[in-house]
Amino acid sequence: MGGQSEGPKTAASGPLSKPLSIEDLGVSRAVLIDLAVKLLYADGELDGTEIADRFKIALPVAVDILDVLRREKLCSVLGSDRGVLPVYRYGITELGVERAREALTRNEYIGPVPVSLAAYVEMVKRQGVAMACSVIRREDLERALNELVVSPSLINQLGPALNSGQPILLYGAPGNGKTYIAQNIVNLVLGSIFIPHTCEVEGQIIKIFDPEYHNLVDGGAQTRDVERDARWTLCKRPVVMVGGELTLSSLGLIFDPISKCHEASLQMKANGGIFFIDDFGRQLLLPEELLNRWIVPLEAQVDYLALHTGKQVQIPFDSLVIFSTNLDPSTLDEAFLRRIPHKVMIPNPNLYEYYLLFQRVCHSKGVPFDKDGFSYLVEKYCRDADRPLRACHPRDLVDQIVTIARYNDQKPVLTEENIDQACANYFVQRPSEGFREA
Ligand SMILES: Nc1ncnc2c1ncn2[C@@H]1O[C@H](COP(=O)(O)OP(=O)(O)OP(=O)(O)O)[C@@H](O)[C@H]1O
Ligand SMILES: [Mg+2]
Repeated sequence: MGGQSEGPKTAASGPLSKPLSIEDLGVSRAVLIDLAVKLLYADGELDGTEIADRFKIALPVAVDILDVLRREKLCSVLGSDRGVLPVYRYGITELGVERAREALTRNEYIGPVPVSLAAYVEMVKRQGVAMACSVIRREDLERALNELVVSPSLINQLGPALNSGQPILLYGAPGNGKTYIAQNIVNLVLGSIFIPHTCEVEGQIIKIFDPEYHNLVDGGAQTRDVERDARWTLCKRPVVMVGGELTLSSLGLIFDPISKCHEASLQMKANGGIFFIDDFGRQLLLPEELLNRWIVPLEAQVDYLALHTGKQVQIPFDSLVIFSTNLDPSTLDEAFLRRIPHKVMIPNPNLYEYYLLFQRVCHSKGVPFDKDGFSYLVEKYCRDADRPLRACHPRDLVDQIVTIARYNDQKPVLTEENIDQACANYFVQRPSEGFREA
């Protein structure tokens, strides 16, 4: 377990080493000049330290960039403070304003200096999710699912699947805990990774850091580490969970025509972490569309994304992909299924598990568990009604009983009357239970 909590080591060389020159930043001078004139144009006068902070680079490198601007008459030095090492203030010139306006037509991005695509690719490889998965052990999974009722055979199957870091399909009837299990296991993929704010490719800006999915470690305090490239932020491994809202466009780079920047695809944001596609097959996106889109990325672990210029870029696809579906997997394309090595069926609970679920739910909701009430429910509403047991029944039925009791100013108890009322609400009536079709 020890290795799980550790973040990646700070590399002595490679994408994390602190850039000491303009060249070390890995992006073209044109991009840097654009960025600097836009910043001065937007913010007016700034001193070197403020500029270095905004760019998340060292002061001497910021000064080098400003010297380039000065030589091209795009900025002027307005003076300096009177410290031991003077920090100059910079302002934009008329020529600079012209250049800034022109730069803004290319894109409106102002912020940390982007990293190069090559640096991003290398970093994704260095901190691959398979590393974090490979340290998952049986006791970790048992602990993660401690609050749930799951059979040992499920643990036996799910554990190695998670450990492999390969795609997993959770399937089975509704209400048996596919989403619930996934929500609990995502916490097993521990550790932290470095994520850049933005990445530059072919002069285009791709925004990668997204506060919705990227949680800073220590609230971002680590960015004060003076020894490394501060353009990368240390974040917990991301968990991207998507349901019915998933569309094909969110799986590509999204170009914002106003800012003229690209937003990274969801799978890029999930790199180094988990991409959980819940309710697969119930998205606006048809299963076949997703399958066609992902058949190569799933196998080759690379994705081809199009910039708005039409240029295709190759981006690593490195997340633990988990699908959940209540569709019959045999209806899915065989070629797709082959690319998901782990298909884990989440079965109906057996009677003992149903009993445990009921007991636990009663306990957590302050309802006294009653064996007779439980037997009554199982016999009348499951066995006699030929209704399969589902793991969600206990929670949903006890919730109903609690509501009924509150409404009647009574204590919630598992009486036959309360169970009848809860079941009448919860289960749809069948012809055998008195419902007649008109
Ligand atoms: N194994 C379990 N242990 C404890 N509670 C469970 C378990 N499985 C399901 N539940 C309860 O049932 C609820 C519904 O489960 P969940 O939404 O995960 O089902 P699902 O399989 O994702 O269904 P669907 O296919 O309709 O999306 C959970 O929120 C939880 O309260
Ligand atoms: Mg679900």
